Amino acid sequence: MKIAVLPGDGIGPEIVSEAVKVLGALDVKFEMEAAPVGGAAYEAAGHPLPEATLKLAQGADAILFGAVGDWKYDTLERALRPEQAILGLRKALGLFANFRPAICYEQLVGASSLKPELVAGLDILIIRELTGDIYFGQPRGRRTAADGHFPGAEEAFDTMRYARPEIERIARVAFEAARKRGKKVTSVDKANVLETFQFWKDVVTEVHKDYPDVELQHMYVDNAAMQLVKAPKAFDVIVTGNMFGDILSDEASMLTGSIGMLPSASLNDRKQGLYEPSHGSAPDIAGKGVANPLATILSAAMMLRFSLNQPEAAGRIEAAVQKVLAQGLRTPDIWSEGTTRVGTAQMGDAVVNALR
Ligand code: NAD
Ligand code: IPM
Ligand code: MN
Repeated sequence: MKIAVLPGDGIGPEIVSEAVKVLGALDVKFEMEAAPVGGAAYEAAGHPLPEATLKLAQGADAILFGAVGDWKYDTLERALRPEQAILGLRKALGLFANFRPAICYEQLVGASSLKPELVAGLDILIIRELTGDIYFGQPRGRRTAADGHFPGAEEAFDTMRYARPEIERIARVAFEAARKRGKKVTSVDKANVLETFQFWKDVVTEVHKDYPDVELQHMYVDNAAMQLVKAPKAFDVIVTGNMFGDILSDEASMLTGSIGMLPSASLNDRKQGLYEPSHGSAPDIAGKGVANPLATILSAAMMLRFSLNQPEAAGRIEAAVQKVLAQGLRTPDIWSEGTTRVGTAQMGDAVVNALR
């Protein structure tokens, strides 16, 4: 089993080393090979996703990814920006199904910004379509407006689009996932305004005919954003497009205590997967040894379960994470009165010890 390890920028290398440490402490053996990606790869090879990195990823059973991006690259032409590396990997590998589970561990109920009773026992799954929508739609660019309110003015445009097969396959992923848990899917759209999302809603409704045992609810994205903080436990599986899923998953992360707790799995139709925390490179805390590595460690557990056929090892990691939380160890993002503040490496070490 081969894992491509792509640490990236900012806190990426710090959190990925902890996940690698945890994987190394299991009695399962993997071949791991690292490569630069993002800003680090731009510095080393002049491109955020060098050919060699892409080849390594394509040939691996799974990819463990940290994060990419730094403010200092914000003025580069778009094709060379670090973020193009993660977008390019998703597209090149066809990783259309992004699983972002938001689970509020019992020990972290007090770390959430919401009242304890709203988040205690929370276990929802956001399924975000990852290779379509306004993220990838063409055409896009800048031009001189030919019409509209300001003809002759400089303007910028992107294209929101979804093809029927793209919606069908992500809807199936969501219904199948819901079947194995709470049997309820909330499809989040903006059908009241956008043709793309009226189509989304129609197609999801059609696919639902094959899943009569699963309840389907439709919700507009603005309401969904509100319901997520009003009564998050009313959700089971949320399925939505690329952009809405990006935004709602960051929102949902705060229900779990911190974005440093939210793992993710991005899968293609061959169960090859890229595993990364849902957060970014956190340049504001990079290099300080304080980033929470648990989202990345939990992403490694998802990797064992979804791509490497090691569900038992995945369960051991998840149990070890709960154990260190029960011991009261907290990185600053989840710290609260009466718990012990630790750094990134100490947290990783504690998970390794808890595995033993
Ligand atoms: P971010 O997720 O990096 O950070 C948002 C806030 O959350 C910051 O205050 C940060 O310190 C905190 N945070 C994030 N992860 C944390 C962790 N593990 N432990 C403790 N605190 C944590 O989002 P941003 O600041 O908007 O973006 C920073 C850069 O990351 C940008 O260049 C952006 O494009 C990029 N980004 C990359 C990915 C990815 O690689 N998949 C995802 C999101 C953002
Ligand atoms: C994420 C990130 C990425 C996205 C960026 C860095 C391209 O925010 O993985 O959530 O928008 O998908
Ligand atoms: Mn995001």
